[in-house]
Amino acid sequence: MPKSGRQITVGALNLRRRRAVELRLAGASVSKTARKTRLSEPTVIAAIKAYRKGGWTAVPVGPRGRGVRGRQEPAAAEAAVLAAAARDRNPVLKSWLRALGRRRPMRLSRPFRLPVLRVERLPTGAVGCGGCVASGSLRAGERVRLEPAGRECRVERIVAAGRDLPLASAGQAVALVLDAPNGAAAGDLICAAEAPAQVAAQFEAAVLWLDQAPMLRGRTYLMRAGARTVAATVSPLKYRIDAKSLEHIAAEKLEQDEIGVCELELDQAIAFDPYTENRETGGFVLIDSLSNRVVGAGLLRFALRRAHNIHLQHLEVDKAARAAAKRQKPCVLWLTGLSGAGKSTIANLVEKRLHAAGHHTYLLDGDNVRHGLTKDLGFTAEDRVENIRRIAEAAKLMVDAGLIVLTAFISPFRAERRMARRLLQDGEFFEIFVDAPLAVAEARDPKGLYRKARRGEIRNFTGIDSPYEAPEAPDVRVDTAALTPEEAAQAIFAELGRRQIALVP
Ligand code: ADX
Repeated sequence: MPKSGRQITVGALNLRRRRAVELRLAGASVSKTARKTRLSEPTVIAAIKAYRKGGWTAVPVGPRGRGVRGRQEPAAAEAAVLAAAARDRNPVLKSWLRALGRRRPMRLSRPFRLPVLRVERLPTGAVGCGGCVASGSLRAGERVRLEPAGRECRVERIVAAGRDLPLASAGQAVALVLDAPNGAAAGDLICAAEAPAQVAAQFEAAVLWLDQAPMLRGRTYLMRAGARTVAATVSPLKYRIDAKSLEHIAAEKLEQDEIGVCELELDQAIAFDPYTENRETGGFVLIDSLSNRVVGAGLLRFALRRAHNIHLQHLEVDKAARAAAKRQKPCVLWLTGLSGAGKSTIANLVEKRLHAAGHHTYLLDGDNVRHGLTKDLGFTAEDRVENIRRIAEAAKLMVDAGLIVLTAFISPFRAERRMARRLLQDGEFFEIFVDAPLAVAEARDPKGLYRKARRGEIRNFTGIDSPYEAPEAPDVRVDTAALTPEEAAQAIFAELGRRQIALVP
C-alpha cells in the first residue's frame, strides 16, 4: 500500500491483546470478526469505513507483539467487499460475498505461502526473509521455491521475535533464513517447493470497483497482490454483472460498487494462486497511481493461456545499436493541451528544426492518427484512454527504432500520460504542456469545433463537456496565449538543450 494512503493500524488498536490481527471479513460477519480479533464492532466498522475512504492497512502484530510488522492485502480486498456490501445492502455485493464463501477454508490446509515484506539482516548476522505466513505451514529444513523467479532453496531457520521456531504456520509473522538468500527480495512469494504458486502476467479477474471515477477499459492501475505492486492494464473489460438480474452485460467501464470481469495485463509477472484455491494469494487491490487511493478490489480467476504461449523475442540489434547508428538519443516529446492550443503547429516547428539538424524524427498527430491506427475510436473517456494507449505503444516502438518521436494529442487524462511515461525508460519521456486558457483556444477555434460543441452538435468535447486534466509537473510548459508558435518551439528547444536531450547543433 502506498505510504501516502491513509493507514489505520488495526493491530495497534488491539495493543492490549497483542496478538496477530487479521480481518478475515469474507468468512465472518462483522461481529464475528470483531470477536475473533477482539476488536469492538464499531472499531471494525470504523476501520472498514476508513479503508473505503483512503486506503487501509492492517498491520499484523507478530506473536506477542514483537514480530514483523507488515501488510495484509488480500484480506483488505475482502474487507472492501464486505464494507461495500454492509453499506449499501447491495444484492450483487451480497452475491459476491456468497461467492467468496461463508465458510472460509482452513488456511492451514493450503500449501505454504509467505509474501516477503522485507529482506533484512537479523541480529545473528543471517539474512532473513520477513513476512506473515499467508497459508500452510513449513518446518525448518524444508525446501521452498522463491517465486516469481522460480529459484529453489532450503529454509535453514525460522525466526520469530528473536527466537528459533521449529515450525511456521499460517498467521505467524516470521523471518525465514534461507541457505541461498541471494536474489531474494521484498515482493517475492516463498512457496512450498513441492506445491509452488503459478506465475503469470495476464489474468482473468473479477473486480469490485470502489472509486467514484469509473474503472475504464484500457486504463492502467497499480495492482497490489501479496507483497508485490505492479502496473495492471484493464484489457479488456469483458462484462459487468447487473445488480438486479445478475446478467452479464457488455461494458466499457465499471461504476462505483459495480462488479465486473476483466482481463488484466501486468507489466511484470507475479506469483499467485487462483482465488478459489487460495484466498490469501488470489486476492488483490487496485490503486490509483496518482492519488494512491484504493479504487478496486478483486480476485484472480486464472492466468490467460495466451500468456503462456507468447514470449518476448530477444533481438540482437537493440535500441542502443539503432540509436547509435542515428547518432541520437531516442525519446518522446509528448505534447498535451486543449484542442486549438497549438500542439500540432508547435510540434511541426520542432520537428522541422530537429530534421534540419540531421535528426531522425517522427510526428504522431491526433488528427492524422485518428484516420488510421485509431480510426475505430471516438471521444468517450474509454475511447480516449484506448487512443492514448495505442499512441503510447506506437511511440515506444519508434523509440525502440531509435527515433525522436513527437506526439500531438490532447491526451486529457493524467493517468494515461503517466502510463505513457511508464512505458519508456527514465529520461526518454518529456511531457510538454502546450498551455492556452480555454477562452483563448475557443476564440481561435481553427476547425470551428468549439462552436459546434457549444451548440451541442458535438458531444464530449474537451474543455466543454469533457475534462482536461492539466499536467501538474510538466517537463516543459509553453504559454501559447503569450508566445508565438516560433517562440514556444524555441522555449522547448532551450529546455531540451539544457537537459541534453535532442541536442541541436
Ligand atoms: S484525445 O483526447 O484522444 O487525445 P486527439 O488529440 O486524438 O484527442 O484528437 C483531438 C482532435 O480531434 C481535436 O484536435 C479535434 O480536431 C478533433 N475532435 C473531434 N471531436 C472532438 C471532441 N469531442 N473532443 C476533442 N477533440 C475532438
